[in-house]
Amino acid sequence: TIVYVPHDASALSLGADAVAKAIQAEAASRNIDVRMVRNGSRGLYWLEPMVEVETPAGRVAYGPVQPTDVLGLFDADFLHGGDDVLKLGLTEDIPWLKSQQRLTFARVGIVDPRNLDDYLAHDGYRGLAAALTMEPAAIMQAVTDSGLRGRGGAAFPAGIKWKTCLDVSADQKYIVCNADEGDSGTFSDRMIMEGDPFVLIEGMTIAGLAVGATRGYIYLRIEYPHAQRALQAAIDTAKARGYLGDNICGSGKAFHLEVRMGAGAYICGEETSLLESLEGKRGQVRFKPPLPAIQGLFGKPTVINNVITLATVPIILDRGAAFYRDYGTGKSRGTLPLQLAGNLKRTGLVERAFGLTLRELIEGYGGGTASGRPVRAVQVGGPLGAYIPASQLDTPIDYEAFAAIGGMVGHGGVVVFDDTVDMAAQARFAMEFCAIESCGKCTPCRIGSTRGVEVIDRIVAGDDAEKARNEVLLRDLCQTMVAGSLCALGGMAPFPVLSALDHFHEDFEGKKHPPL
Ligand code: NAI
Ligand code: SF4
Repeated sequence: TIVYVPHDASALSLGADAVAKAIQAEAASRNIDVRMVRNGSRGLYWLEPMVEVETPAGRVAYGPVQPTDVLGLFDADFLHGGDDVLKLGLTEDIPWLKSQQRLTFARVGIVDPRNLDDYLAHDGYRGLAAALTMEPAAIMQAVTDSGLRGRGGAAFPAGIKWKTCLDVSADQKYIVCNADEGDSGTFSDRMIMEGDPFVLIEGMTIAGLAVGATRGYIYLRIEYPHAQRALQAAIDTAKARGYLGDNICGSGKAFHLEVRMGAGAYICGEETSLLESLEGKRGQVRFKPPLPAIQGLFGKPTVINNVITLATVPIILDRGAAFYRDYGTGKSRGTLPLQLAGNLKRTGLVERAFGLTLRELIEGYGGGTASGRPVRAVQVGGPLGAYIPASQLDTPIDYEAFAAIGGMVGHGGVVVFDDTVDMAAQARFAMEFCAIESCGKCTPCRIGSTRGVEVIDRIVAGDDAEKARNEVLLRDLCQTMVAGSLCALGGMAPFPVLSALDHFHEDFEGKKHPPL
C-alpha cells in the first residue's frame, strides 16, 4: 500500500514527521508493508497533517492526523480506506479541491517531489519537449498569446518582458527566478518549490530557450530551507538525467541552474536589489532604466520572473496558449493560486480562474472567520496592499477590478481580519514595516516612513484639533511617498495607510472598537 504524508513545511510544522514515523512504526509492528511517499501539501492547511492512502477507487484522505490517532487508523483498516472519524473520503471529491481549477498546481500533493519519473508520468517535461521543437520567437509568442502576466505582483505581461530580452543581443543572458516570497500571507511559491520543484526547473529552462539564456539562478529566501533542499535534489536529478546541462535532452542547447540564498531582507524581493544581492553586494535598489531585461545580472540581459510565472510556462507550452487563455476574465487571463490566511476557518491554497469574487473566496473556501465574528477588513497583495472593507467583498478578483477600488491583487495573498481589528494600529504597522525594511536609498521612503509612524501616533493620541492637523500631514506625506519613492516599497506603503483612513476612519478618532 502507498501512504502519502506531506513533507510541506506547513504540514511539518503541524507534526507530519511524527505522524509519518508513527505510521511506519505501527506498520512494522504489524508486519504490514507500506510504501511511504512524502508528497507536497494539497493546500488544505486546516486538515494537515493530511494522510492519503492509495485504494482501487482512488486516494482516500484522513486528517488532521496526530501520532496518537495512528493506532486507531490501523485498527480501522485505513490502509484499505476503512472508516474512521478522521476519514475525509476520496481526496478528489473534497469540495474545496474539486471546485478548483488547478493548472499551475496540477501536480502539487499528487506527485513525489523528488521523483523525476513520477513527474514524467504526470505530463512533466512535455512543455520543454514542445519548446525544443520551436524557434525562440515562437516560444515567446506562445507565452504572449496565453495572456500570462507576472504573478509576483506587478502583473506585467510575461511574453513582452521576454521579447525585450530576446531582442537584445549579448554574449550571455540570464534567467533569474524571484523566489524571495516576502509578502505576508503568501506561500504559493514555497508550495510549488517544495511540492513540484521540477515544474519550476522546466519553466526556467523553457524561458532560457525563449530568450537565449544559458544560465539561471533561483534567488530563494533564507527562510525556506525545505524548498532549498527540494530544489537542490531536483536540480541534481535533472542534471544527472540530462534535463539540465550543456546538452539538454540531446538538443545541443545548454541550460545551467543554481540556487542562491537570500539573507532575510524584504527589499531583496524587488528585482534590482535582488540582482545586487545575487552579485554579492548589499541589497539596494537600482535606478530603472536600464530595465533588467536589457541590462540585468552582471550587466547582461536578464529575465526576472516570479516562481509562479515560471512554473506556469510548462503547461502553456504543453497545452497551447489558447487553452490557458480560455480561463479568466478581461485582461486577467488564466488562473491565480490564491493563498488564504489570517482569521479564517479554512486556510490554504485555492487556484481558480480570475473572476471569482473575494466573497466566494472568503466565505466559500475560507468558511468565514475562525473567531465566528464578522469580517471587517481584508488585505490582499501583501503588507503593501490596501485594506478592503467588508462592503467591497463582491469585487471580482482580477487585476483591473482591484485597481478600480484602489486595491491590488499582487501575489494573491489574502489576509482576513474580524471586527476586533484596530485599523489605526494596522496603518501604523504598514509605516513601521516600511521603516524597518527600507533600503535607505531614497528620502521619501527612508525618512517618510519613520515620520509616518510618528504622525499616526499623534493622530491616535491627540485631541480633535491635533487629529485633524496631523491627518492632513499624513495624507500629504503619503502623497509624497507615492510620487517620490524609487521603488514599490516606499511607493506602496501608503496604500494600506490611506485605505485604513478612508474606510475605517473611526479607528483614528479614538472611538471604541466593538467589545472583544
Ligand atoms: P514594475 O511595474 O516596475 O515592473 C514590472 C516588471 O516588468 C519588472 O520586472 C520590470 O523590469 C518589467 N518591465 C517593465 N517594462 C518592461 C519592458 N518594456 N520590457 C521588459 N520588462 C519590462 O513593478 P516592480 O517594482 O517590479 O514590482 C512591484 C510589484 O511587486 C508590486 O505591485 C507588488 O505587488 C509586488 N511585490 C511582491 C512581493 C512578493 O513577495 N511577491 C513583495 C513586494 C511587492
Ligand atoms: Fe529603497 Fe525605499 Fe527608496 Fe525603495 S522606496 S529605493 S526601499 S528607500
